[in-house]
Amino acid sequence: MYCIFVVLTVLLLLPNVAARQSKVGCYFKLKKSFHYYKDGDLIIGGMITRIPILNYQSLLAFVFAISEINRNPHLLPNITLGFHIADPCSDEERAVTGMIDILAGRESPVPNFHCGSLQKLVGVVDGISSKVTLLLAKMFGMYKIPQISYSTLDPILSDKVQFPTFYRTVPNDNFQCMAIVELLKHFSWTFVGLLLSEDDLGLMMSKKLIMELEEQQICVAFLQFIPIHYDTEKTKIHDVFRGLRSNTVNAVILYGDRKYILTFHLLLYNLDQYDILQKVWIISTQWDISNDLEYFFLNFKPFNGSLAFTLPKRTMPGFKDFLHEVNPDSHPNDILIEYIWFMLFECKWHAKRDDPEICMGKETIQNPEYEVFYNDTSMYSNSIYTAVYALAHALHMMYSEKIKKNQHVGNIKAWELNHFLKNLQFTTPNGEKLHFDENGDMYSKLDIMNWIVNPNDTLEGIRVGSFKHQGSSSSLIINESLIRWPTAFNQTPGSYCSETCTPGYRRAQRKGFPACCYDCISCPQGEISNRTDAEICFSCPDTEWANENQTKCTYKAIIYLSYGDALGISLTLLSGLFSLLTCSVMMIFIKHRNTPIVKANNRDLSYILLLSIKMCFLCILLFIGHPDHVTCILRQTVFAITFTICLSSILAKTVTVIIAFNATKPGSRIRNWMGSRVSISILVFCFLIQVTICAGWLGISPPFPYYNIEDEVGVIVVQCNEGSTFGFYSALGFLGLLALVSFIVAFFARNLPDVFNEAKFITFSMLVFCSVWISFIPAYLSTKGKYVVAVEIFAILASSLALLGCIFIPKCFIILVQPECNTVAFVKK
Ligand SMILES: *[C@@H]1O[C@H](CO)[C@@H](O)[C@H](O)[C@H]1NC(C)=O
Ligand SMILES: *[C@@H]1O[C@H](CO)[C@@H](O)[C@H](O)[C@H]1NC(C)=O
Ligand SMILES: *[C@@H]1O[C@H](CO)[C@@H](O)[C@H](O)[C@H]1NC(C)=O
Ligand SMILES: *[C@@H]1O[C@H](CO)[C@@H](O)[C@H](O)[C@H]1NC(C)=O
Ligand SMILES: *[C@@H]1O[C@H](CO)[C@@H](O)[C@H](O)[C@H]1NC(C)=O
Ligand SMILES: *[C@@H]1O[C@H](CO)[C@@H](O)[C@H](O)[C@H]1NC(C)=O
Ligand SMILES: *[C@@H]1O[C@H](CO)[C@@H](O)[C@H](O)[C@H]1NC(C)=O
Repeated sequence: MYCIFVVLTVLLLLPNVAARQSKVGCYFKLKKSFHYYKDGDLIIGGMITRIPILNYQSLLAFVFAISEINRNPHLLPNITLGFHIADPCSDEERAVTGMIDILAGRESPVPNFHCGSLQKLVGVVDGISSKVTLLLAKMFGMYKIPQISYSTLDPILSDKVQFPTFYRTVPNDNFQCMAIVELLKHFSWTFVGLLLSEDDLGLMMSKKLIMELEEQQICVAFLQFIPIHYDTEKTKIHDVFRGLRSNTVNAVILYGDRKYILTFHLLLYNLDQYDILQKVWIISTQWDISNDLEYFFLNFKPFNGSLAFTLPKRTMPGFKDFLHEVNPDSHPNDILIEYIWFMLFECKWHAKRDDPEICMGKETIQNPEYEVFYNDTSMYSNSIYTAVYALAHALHMMYSEKIKKNQHVGNIKAWELNHFLKNLQFTTPNGEKLHFDENGDMYSKLDIMNWIVNPNDTLEGIRVGSFKHQGSSSSLIINESLIRWPTAFNQTPGSYCSETCTPGYRRAQRKGFPACCYDCISCPQGEISNRTDAEICFSCPDTEWANENQTKCTYKAIIYLSYGDALGISLTLLSGLFSLLTCSVMMIFIKHRNTPIVKANNRDLSYILLLSIKMCFLCILLFIGHPDHVTCILRQTVFAITFTICLSSILAKTVTVIIAFNATKPGSRIRNWMGSRVSISILVFCFLIQVTICAGWLGISPPFPYYNIEDEVGVIVVQCNEGSTFGFYSALGFLGLLALVSFIVAFFARNLPDVFNEAKFITFSMLVFCSVWISFIPAYLSTKGKYVVAVEIFAILASSLALLGCIFIPKCFIILVQPECNTVAFVKK
């Protein structure tokens, strides 16, 4: 029943199966069908392409593994493994016929199907083209025959619902996607092109890749599917060239089925014609042509400097010796071996004795290109070797378990093996511990090769790194110093749409472009970005401000009117100068203390006034320098009290003038007595009021130093906060009141007869004084920072100078320049 079913399905799947005998001409020289069969207790099927010659090494690896297992007393003792190798020639139809042959057994063409070997077949090893593998996986899956692929990375095969009996000794393409993305990240390539084969694999991988790339914020500059025929699909090819023209896209991922290599190659070969600059091609494992003679005729130049992923090469102990023992005599069943021998050694094995081309038995390889055949195990040899060992170990497990359970061991069913393959943990002869993961995939490592085209046009792959993945962590190791980039680049090329934004700038997405295309915009004032490619700028904390390059927040500069800056120095000098001036006026007054002009209107008041004006000049010094608790308290209080003394002495002087006028008649004694009493009272009274106000102010809430961060951007202004505003305005208000009263009184007294026009000068000085302070108010309110203090200092200077200038300078003038007016006689006149 079973056999009939097999025959029927095969016939249905391939209607022209009868014609297969005529289609077997894969190689022009050979007319026989190429099966390589060796009998055994159990048979392992192999679908291995033997030509070109490097692939023949794969076949030998298969044979080597089987003979090693047969000789191994600890692995499958008492059981001889046989094999049945068919050659699919990378061709789907041929693959199906090969498969039928393997299923059917050695001698039987399909119509006379004979079931003998079906029971012996325990598994199949296959590879080369993912399309063929997919086809086979569907068939073998139907019969539940374990199939182990040594080369196919197609992720769809990891689907255990569709392909429950498919395994592979290579990782799947998702793993390769991960590796590619890591590679791009390593070189900070954020803008890349994708060239994929125009088939199911290309379509699926494009989706997968785009998803992975987007996750890592890598943009796809262009995505093009390459048709299988270069010449017949010109428009598609032109599209590809258009995409490749972008000058900043230097990294392009090539991905696709092996069958597309020729088209890709033609495409790359013609880049020059289209003025397209060199690129770094990132090549997937499917395309490893670096030691594959199948493509020896290609001109490798366009691939120079590419980075290619490849399955890691591993050693097979004893394989080299095995290779040296191989000859047509030791493998009589292999119908191709003589042909291979002819290719390798240019000699005929079975020739007449006198034939000059007869092999001597110990030939050395003539063609240096074929040296790799002996020296280097090809990418797939180890993979095949591992696959055979996996099957053998699974079989061994199955036998051991059957013996343990005392079951009948004679009748093996291939499907039973799946259970053991899924849970298999085994060690290959080179000491590697391996197992299939839950999807039937194996190995979590890929090597990264740098392809160098030598001047003699040979392609050489240099291992520059590897990608490993274990559990959830992956690691990419690359030795950049080993990489030789394409000649157009003299250093590691970049691949980006926009250059990275340096710190201090932020990215601004360009409208209508992929996410990797952006402009760099410098951060707004007071904000920083401290890493490259920042998305946003941060604003600094209140007490900090962005540095010059907007890369760091630094403490804000603290500013105040200091003795160090020009304004501070000039104000200090002015203060010193004017207090010296005041001193000299005072000295002149003391020197001429007995002259009428000094004695007029209360000499003591004049001294007090001079002293307080001097204090006013000196109190400016309290306003310069870093404010602290003491200076803040002293500033306003000293200023208020000295000005109170000034203004009250002026008021007292004016009052003296009025009293003097009104009291002329009763006699000079009363006048003098009254005058000095009243003036002292005024002085003390005003002084006490201001002291009380100040004491109250200090008692309630004294001024304190204050760091102002609001008024000026980017700096901190140290100021004195008044503490109690009420106190401040009371003190100022009292001064204003005093000034106003002095002015009014002086104004009314201005026309009183007075020898030295004292009242007029006082009126004038108060006029200047009041105008200075009235103009001070808008100036004070409109300035910020350290200039607030400067404005106040100017007002103090100007008003004090007005007092000094209007009241004392004219007197000094008379004393020094017109001494004749300063005599008792002149006064009496
Ligand atoms: C292998 O065969 C020998 C001899 O027939 C027998 O003694 C031995 O037990 C067998 N071993 C196994 C594992 O079947
Ligand atoms: C292969 O190995 C032999 C000796 O082991 C050596 O002389 C020869 O150069 C090697 N060839 C290559 C291509 O590595
Ligand atoms: C080509 O050149 C490289 C180095 O330049 C050399 O190693 C290689 O053997 C040469 N191959 C052939 C076939 O001449
Ligand atoms: C990278 O390769 C260079 C040149 O072969 C070597 O000197 C260096 O040690 C390598 N670095 C690493 C980290 O392997
Ligand atoms: C390949 O690239 C390497 C390094 O850039 C350079 O030395 C070599 O000449 C290139 N080969 C060809 C054939 O252009
Ligand atoms: C950048 O600034 C942020 C916030 O100020 C800080 O947490 C981070 O450590 C800074 N990074 C670097 C590289 O300076
Ligand atoms: C700001 O950038 C300029 C130019 O890049 C550099 O010379 C300077 O040292 C930088 N200044 C700071 C404070 O980092």
